[in-house]
Amino acid sequence: MEKTLEKVRIASVADLPEKMGKTVRVGELELAVFKLGNGTVRAIENRCPHKGGVLAEGIVSGEHVFCPMHDWKICTTDGKVQAPDVGCVSTYKAVIEDGDVYLFI
Ligand code: FES
Repeated sequence: MEKTLEKVRIASVADLPEKMGKTVRVGELELAVFKLGNGTVRAIENRCPHKGGVLAEGIVSGEHVFCPMHDWKICTTDGKVQAPDVGCVSTYKAVIEDGDVYLFI
């Protein structure tokens, strides 16, 4: 059976810094939320699969973020770690409505 996702407002778009991450907590979850250069918003798990680096503090380039600890490159769209490293993080759907950002958790 599919789990129903909850739609949660996390910020207004204007509150998110462009091309930077922001740590957002929703219940027990800690997420890294990014507003990309093209204005879209992405949300991923805030823990690097390598050794737990805080991805919200990473450097954003296009749709990727570089982990601040050892520079693994992670796609904010599908959560996949880019070669030669391997792994992935959970991703969460984000939508913008009337200037507010909502995540489906
Ligand atoms: S903890 Fe992220 S690359 Fe090592």
